[in-house]
Amino acid sequence: MDKIIIEGGYRLEGEVTISGAKNAVLPLMAACILTEGKNTFTNVPDLADVRTMSKLLRILGAEVEFEDGVLYVDTSKLSNWIAPYELVKTMRASVLVLGPLTARFGRSRVSLPGGCAIGERPIDQHLKGLGLLGAKIHIEEGYIETFASRLRGNIIPFDISTVTGTENIMLAAVLAEGDTMILNAACEPEVVELANVLNKMGARIKGAGTDIITIKGVDRLYPIDGYQIMPDRIETGTFMVASALTKGDILIKGCRFENVGAVVGKLLEAGVDISLVDGGIRVKGSDRVKSIDITTLPYPGFPTDMQAQMMTLMSIADGLSVITETIFPQRFMHAGELRRMGAEIKLVGSSAVVKGVPYLSGAPVMASDLRASASLVLAGLAARGKTQISRVYHLDRGYEKLDKKLESLGARIWRESE
Ligand code: EPZ
Repeated sequence: MDKIIIEGGYRLEGEVTISGAKNAVLPLMAACILTEGKNTFTNVPDLADVRTMSKLLRILGAEVEFEDGVLYVDTSKLSNWIAPYELVKTMRASVLVLGPLTARFGRSRVSLPGGCAIGERPIDQHLKGLGLLGAKIHIEEGYIETFASRLRGNIIPFDISTVTGTENIMLAAVLAEGDTMILNAACEPEVVELANVLNKMGARIKGAGTDIITIKGVDRLYPIDGYQIMPDRIETGTFMVASALTKGDILIKGCRFENVGAVVGKLLEAGVDISLVDGGIRVKGSDRVKSIDITTLPYPGFPTDMQAQMMTLMSIADGLSVITETIFPQRFMHAGELRRMGAEIKLVGSSAVVKGVPYLSGAPVMASDLRASASLVLAGLAARGKTQISRVYHLDRGYEKLDKKLESLGARIWRESE
């Protein structure tokens, strides 16, 4: 296992290019199950989660190759509908194969994803939706089994806005008989990306990006060739915070301003200088940022995946900040580690009250989940002295070469084996 070492206090400046979005490529890889042929995607990030999903698709019988950002998924010989526990327990997003396997084979056997560091994360809405589409579902020995000779379109009223729940039902409904309408659908850009690609494969989906998505079932989908994955909006936000924290001056390239509005809004409120320039977003950190309040919400609200990173920024802001988590109320594992670096954070229910301190001090800390790892890297960049972050395999699940990119901007950061 690796650890990351950071000598803090160095200003970041220069240009950085954002990689493809993890939470876009994972559902798109699952969508390949619905086709029989060779699918290719470009701008695919080299992430542990992409390798895990590739392994899962190979277990199902697909041929998967990945090189230099190009992903090749041949699903001509798909023959297996079982997603094993050993693999699903390492990546919850594996549950995204439930819908497409049921649609393609009329059955599936997928290990129930367990809990994780950021919360219980049930999948009752995924199962409710599949049931309404006519699948017979039963759960035994920690596995979900679905059976459906052919799924039938229906109205799917979600009780809660769920990103992968919306994606799973879209993936199941595109080959169903008749029409489906998802109510209270998630509006995240990654849901829109999935709908766009499914439509290019021959699906008939309307309304993605709004809370009502309609899907007209078709008989067959066709492989997609050379689709470029959208940039990662959470990586974009993470670099914005990195610039603000180090009073840096960074041009963030290859990103989509329209997908990071809520994060830009909060950083502007905190006094960060952000401008839209040719080819990207320029972020200049000036003086000490102002303390602001943040509440995470479904898109287009402030993203929960940026909560930990903003907590790091608020820990050296000039006053008191209240950060409220409405998506994953326990998503505060990073608070304890930031306290080890001198942050003053009090957890009250699903909120964290952060009292800004003049500076953080480097310390040995431990990553617990993907975005908590990012918040600790950011803290190390701003801290006085040396920070050592262990268990960085969490970071490698969702950030492509984050340490290398930060180093190219002037950070003193390197890896050592634990
Ligand atoms: C997706 O997770 C993302 N993962 C998460 O990103 C992200 O934090 C989350 O959406 C929220 O934006 C991927 O896209 C692969 P949800 P997902 O279903 O779909 C509750 C990262 O760091 N819920 O939108 O699992 C759930 O408990 C990861 O990249 C149910 O109650 O999240 C939560 O409170 C972390 N029943 C809320 O809905 C269900 O059946 C939103 O969860 C499903 C969800």
